[in-house]
Amino acid sequence: MSIANQPSPSFDQREFRNALGTFTTGVTIITACQADGKLVGVTANSFNSVSLDPPLVLWSLAKSSNSLAAFEVAEYWAVHILSHDQDQLATHFSKRAHDKFAGLHVESGMGGAPLLAGCTTRMECKTAYRYDGGDHIIMVGEVMHFEHSDIAPLVYQRGNYAIATRKELADEAEALIKATAASSSFDENSMSYLLGSAYFHLYGKLREFGAAKGLNDAEFFVLNTLAARDGRSLAELNRLFAYAGHTPLINVLDDMTARGLLDIAVDKGERNERGLFYLTAIGRDLAQAIGDSGKQTELELLNSLGMVDTIALRTLLRRFIALTDESKLPLDNE
Ligand SMILES: Cc1cc2nc3c(=O)[nH]c(=O)nc-3n(C[C@H](O)[C@H](O)[C@H](O)COP(=O)(O)O)c2cc1C
Repeated sequence: MSIANQPSPSFDQREFRNALGTFTTGVTIITACQADGKLVGVTANSFNSVSLDPPLVLWSLAKSSNSLAAFEVAEYWAVHILSHDQDQLATHFSKRAHDKFAGLHVESGMGGAPLLAGCTTRMECKTAYRYDGGDHIIMVGEVMHFEHSDIAPLVYQRGNYAIATRKELADEAEALIKATAASSSFDENSMSYLLGSAYFHLYGKLREFGAAKGLNDAEFFVLNTLAARDGRSLAELNRLFAYAGHTPLINVLDDMTARGLLDIAVDKGERNERGLFYLTAIGRDLAQAIGDSGKQTELELLNSLGMVDTIALRTLLRRFIALTDESKLPLDNE
């Protein structure tokens, strides 16, 4: 008896979708060219490998798709496995649109199938089999040509685009933190401990560079704060100093002014109340040199972290900052 003749099990469609959504996949865009030259393309996460020899892959296409007629007869189609930063392209190709290719630069592949740029892998396939698959058709293709890169792929899980990070590296890092924090009273998993340690270690490396340039901690802080945005009043600097745990000292500013690193624009002559502090050209050059060394240090650290984990870290930190934004961190928001 064929599946079509059997009664369907009665369960909630949405629940079934949710259950399928727990299976994490990559994201592809599959393209083809119709006989009349019209280009078609759909976002598909049903893509999978089938066989190495012969090299076969498959995916399934909803019978309700506008592109069904094209794929039902297409001799060739191209699979684009999307890069981590191509989620907008995935969304674009998941919408019903008359011409999804308007404004997009494409090359022409086998059978005229449009080839998109920037994906992590691209495969040109020749239709090998088509099967009925309920409300989908299953397309099996022989891979005729492929190219791939080490760009991190886009991931799809539970209805969201995601990026993947290697589990065993996260486990190692957690074990390391546990070992080093065993003797401390801090909860080694608390966010304040983790974020604080990361910041302390990174900032510590930069401070070393500041010290080599003859700046103490407070001077280093003033320089960086004014480099982010100068024209700050003493009151504002004091507030930022207090936030960062530095002693508010007019002497620090006086000393830096005397060394030619700072200048003060005085409004109505009331120096302490109304004066705004600026970096001089010398101060700006020094801040630039420290900034460059900071970027270099950061680059080296992120290189050892790897591209995928760097993206994951940035994404999660941005989300965390957005969540905690109510506190309006003075350095970021002023
Ligand atoms: C992440 C994601 C994965 C998808 N996977 C599939 C799939 O495997 N098969 C399919 O038919 N539709 C899939 N879709 C929906 C199609 O992309 C969408 O229905 C299609 O592009 C609509 O355009 P068309 O009717 O012009 O073909 C997916 C959508 C998204 C966002």
